[in-house]
Amino acid sequence: MKTYKIACIPGDGIGKEVIPAGQTVLAALAQKLGSFKFEFTSFDWGGDYYRQHGVMMPADGLNDLRNKDALLFGSAGDPHIPDHITLWGLRLKICQGFDQYANVRPTRILPGIDAPLKRCRPEDLNWVIVRENSEGEYAGVGGRAHQGHPIEVATDVSILTRAGVERIMRFAFKLAQSRPRKFLTVVTKSNAQRHAMVMWDEIALQISKEFPDVKWDKELVDAMTARMVNKPASIDTVVATNLHADVLSDLAAALAGSLGIAPTGNIDPERRYPSMFEPIHGSAFDIMGKGLANPVGTFWSCVMLLEHLGEPAAAALLMRVIESVTADPSLHTGDLGGSARTEQVTAATCARIAAAA
Ligand code: IPM
Ligand code: MG
Repeated sequence: MKTYKIACIPGDGIGKEVIPAGQTVLAALAQKLGSFKFEFTSFDWGGDYYRQHGVMMPADGLNDLRNKDALLFGSAGDPHIPDHITLWGLRLKICQGFDQYANVRPTRILPGIDAPLKRCRPEDLNWVIVRENSEGEYAGVGGRAHQGHPIEVATDVSILTRAGVERIMRFAFKLAQSRPRKFLTVVTKSNAQRHAMVMWDEIALQISKEFPDVKWDKELVDAMTARMVNKPASIDTVVATNLHADVLSDLAAALAGSLGIAPTGNIDPERRYPSMFEPIHGSAFDIMGKGLANPVGTFWSCVMLLEHLGEPAAAALLMRVIESVTADPSLHTGDLGGSARTEQVTAATCARIAAAA
């Protein structure tokens, strides 16, 4: 029987609650289907590890992950440690170390979810945002000098490379091609940013020629926010730079009803390294340790993990169960206006997997 080796990195805050819930659900799926199993290894990296060791994860930590089939990540963030340290010391270290250059963020209004847009029917909002995940505004290039003096200077330089843009465009066009509407929107800001974003547009046009069956259009990022609200049905697959997609994906998740259910995959499409799957909600310190976190974002991330492993039947079964869970208001956690607890949602999900036809 096939055994998938999964590294679990709960990280901080509610990551410590939702990742074990995700493991429970994956194990229930494996038991139900009987055709594969999981071998989980957990890593206690994050804020507490930082307080003990002065680093978020060991310097050679990537070596412990390299031979895994996939990574399941909770969140990184700690109220007592600067955000740039928690982010660069753990999540970005893994994303960049394993060149997971495609960040994929599906958004849908799941059954039973009360989404905020009055005129948007659930079938009008079925998007996948592809976020460039290795360079752009998150390249980490820049510096500070003369700190604390009036002449202090600081820069964050956004870097786009031809190789980096070509590969994310190719990935996005291919993903758009695999979806029924075969439609891609390329988000840009080439009116104001006249170098890198102009190259971004040129490369989009160049790569589009490889995909003659994919229709595509271009939208400025500011106009894109309005289009997401006013004309959600005009959008299917979206590709944007690292920071643009960071912002758009929070808006997308909110329009779909809750950050608590939104999943993401940090993908190495060439499969040189393991890919990493995570809920996008972050550490949510206000509710941590109380059993109130919504585990659905992690479960949906597990669907993406299963698809990536090449287990489409298991992925489809889990997605069906998730939709039956969100359709049941008694299983809504606080972020959805309900009072269900993490363990209730997890137990109900496992029970429905076991009972599935
Ligand atoms: C996300 C998050 C992160 C990001 C934060 C935690 C730094 O907002 O995954 O979208 O900006 O990449
Ligand atoms: Mg974000």
